[in-house]
Amino acid sequence: MIRLNNISKNYSLKDGEVPALDDINLTIEKGEKVCILGRSGSGKTTLLDIIATILTPSQGSYFYNDMDISQFSKQELAKFRNKEFGFVFQSYYLIKEKNILENICLPAIYSDSLIDPQQNALKLMDILDIAELKDRYPNELSGGQRQRVAIARSALLNPNVIIADEPTGNLDEASSRIVLDHLMNFNEQGKTLILVTHDQEIASHFERKIFLNDGRKISNG
Ligand SMILES: Nc1ncnc2c1ncn2[C@@H]1O[C@H](COP(=O)(O)OP(=O)(O)OP(=O)(O)O)[C@@H](O)[C@H]1O
Ligand SMILES: [Mg+2]
Repeated sequence: MIRLNNISKNYSLKDGEVPALDDINLTIEKGEKVCILGRSGSGKTTLLDIIATILTPSQGSYFYNDMDISQFSKQELAKFRNKEFGFVFQSYYLIKEKNILENICLPAIYSDSLIDPQQNALKLMDILDIAELKDRYPNELSGGQRQRVAIARSALLNPNVIIADEPTGNLDEASSRIVLDHLMNFNEQGKTLILVTHDQEIASHFERKIFLNDGRKISNG
């Protein structure tokens, strides 16, 4: 489903280039769950952003369902990304002026999906056990509740892949476990899950682990 061939990424700065990924080869099948590990600066977020088509690689090719992503126009890519990927980040990225239901419905604004956003949001809030929070605002929620809101938002348009960059990085152990369980449930229902973590406990729930070191894959995972 996801196939990266010899992917490298350098970031351009005023005074030169910063190498972030070096010759990454990686295949992820539909429905898999994959954990990406490595020290700070090892390239984890860069790799996720390339998989999610937010970043363009400097070298190499990326095929998604055998489609060559580099052939997509900017507009096609935005549409593709919105349809295929749901995003969960360490710091939630909820909009503080919007209530919880509105936050969860945000991805629908940029989409022509036939999914009824309100109806699906309410269903997801039930599943994630946050239904009673729908009229509150992000600053009126705990960290664990905010992250469940972010997960509901990521799943709103029924994406095939959920991309989670340290989704438990700001949470205590109990909340982390709840957030992980919800992500695992989506995976069990067939969604591909690609998750970055520093947390060994979280990583221990994944059979497939990819270790990065200085932008290189250092395991066969
Ligand atoms: N926008 C950017 N411009 C320049 N360099 C960048 C940029 N983003 C990341 N880098 C550099 O690329 C390398 C990989 O960064 P990346 O964010 O992928 O690491 P990471 O493994 O996600 O780290 P962390 O665990 O701290 O989140 C680092 O050397 C970083 O400084
Ligand atoms: Mg990162």
